[in-house]
Amino acid sequence: MAHDLAKATLGLTLPLQIDPPKISFTAKEINIVEWKGDMLAVGVTEKDMTKDANSKFQNSILKKIDSQHGGLLFQVSTEEDFTGKLGQSTVLRLSGHGTKRVGLFGLGKCTTGSSTAAYQALGESVASSAKAYQANNVAVIIASSEDLTPALKLTAASAIATGTLRGTYEDNRFKSESKKPTLKSVDFLGLGVGPELEKKLKYIEQVFTGVVLGKELVNSPANVLTPGTLAQEAEKIASTYNDVFSVKILDAEQCKELKMGSYLGVAAASASANPPKFIHLCYKPTSGTVKKKLALVGKGLTFDSGGYNIKTGPGCSIELMKYDMGGSAAVLGAAKALGQIKPPGVEVHFIVAACENMISGTGMRPGDIVTASNGKTIEVNNTDAEGRLTLADALVYACNLGVDKIVDLATLTGACVIALGSSIAGIFTPSDELAKEVVAASESAGEKLWRMPMEESYWEKMKSSVADMANSGGRQAGSILAALFLQQFVDEKVQWLHIDIAGPVWNDKKKSATGFAIPTLVEWVVSNSSS
Ligand code: BES
Ligand code: MN
Ligand code: ZN
Repeated sequence: MAHDLAKATLGLTLPLQIDPPKISFTAKEINIVEWKGDMLAVGVTEKDMTKDANSKFQNSILKKIDSQHGGLLFQVSTEEDFTGKLGQSTVLRLSGHGTKRVGLFGLGKCTTGSSTAAYQALGESVASSAKAYQANNVAVIIASSEDLTPALKLTAASAIATGTLRGTYEDNRFKSESKKPTLKSVDFLGLGVGPELEKKLKYIEQVFTGVVLGKELVNSPANVLTPGTLAQEAEKIASTYNDVFSVKILDAEQCKELKMGSYLGVAAASASANPPKFIHLCYKPTSGTVKKKLALVGKGLTFDSGGYNIKTGPGCSIELMKYDMGGSAAVLGAAKALGQIKPPGVEVHFIVAACENMISGTGMRPGDIVTASNGKTIEVNNTDAEGRLTLADALVYACNLGVDKIVDLATLTGACVIALGSSIAGIFTPSDELAKEVVAASESAGEKLWRMPMEESYWEKMKSSVADMANSGGRQAGSILAALFLQQFVDEKVQWLHIDIAGPVWNDKKKSATGFAIPTLVEWVVSNSSS
């Protein structure tokens, strides 16, 4: 489904409306040798590639395919030294057969613990081969599928589907010319059939539409995605799934009434150019009793220049700071998916204090003191530590809704990128219980989180001589200090967990957004639902 970032703005750029790939997934129980289509993709682990005494394949599925093609598979894999390593692949063109190509795709060691990521990577590389060979239909089998439990087969099929969708999708909205993907259908052979698998595949597609929205929001430049257009995106979700959503957008005046001085301080430089929008989207199932109330809060800086502490240092990546609304993209992406999944028994509030961090005569100066909506005063010793200032008022707002649990997401600190790199997000929480829940959700979603300590003794660094606290406290333990700051704005009675996604929000190699955390958030909300 297309969504629009409405009007042409600075630079006259208008994103094209391109529908994300639609691939039909079908689980089949047919003999592999009878399948006909453009490409038969075989996922193999390093173990599957071991050879027997006659130095032939030991694995029965590989044996079967190999003999169907006169030993070609074995020959090619030996010649090309294909050993089943993760990411390795070899595709051969067949002649005189119904099936055009057979490919071997490495799954590496693929232990139970690492299998979701490996199967997802398999799906992505199948998609890129389908692109290279312009395949319309492919079948995927796992050489060792006979050894997999039904639960692992389900995991495999759904992770491969996720990978295939992600590998097929390209964000071409800002290119004047682009090609449509060719891949239309994927058959899963030997991974089971039935309603449970079909339901899971449907869920995967729904989550993917959320991931696409999240990626597109993050990829959109700040001249196109302003706080105003971000708010319109939330309104669009509410109107598309109007049976379960309601939405409220507060302007600066309304935020002032709620005494959100911390958030409004950050927004002040762009008060008239691109004014702030406080987004509150609410999901409520159409029937049944609500047993849990949750809030997802996302940092929504549509651009972070740093403000007067402008980002000038080498490697500060000011040109990438359009992605500083990655937290809000994760929240809205999850909302879109949940609008289709419609989990029962759970109410979810999606909250974003959207604004940009710019420079102007109306802007906040280093050293200014702002007052948050819980009455606490903050000395802004660094205007570039702005995300926490916006989240402070958003967290107070969320607590006032009477929710049981809050998860916030933010591209909050460069320090977290230094600590955990680009594939792992940091989580911070005083609650062991909530940490466990969210980590479990991330594991089934195939995303990596690492719990960081909330070392209270470090709070000393954040003390101010003139206000209740400062907004930054030096270079050491920067991501922990940020988390301790956020904690000042959360009611002790509410379970709260903060996710710093500054690393994983962006893929440097692909120069593109990842949609990180959306699958985890959806999984977490669903795990909190009840019928
Ligand atoms: N948006 C940045 C954090 C960031 C940095 C995200 C690099 C992704 C990549 C945040 O607003 C920021 O500038 N944080 C400062 C805090 C410091 C001034 C205490 C930082 O991390 O340097
Ligand atoms: Mn900043
Ligand atoms: Zn920022």
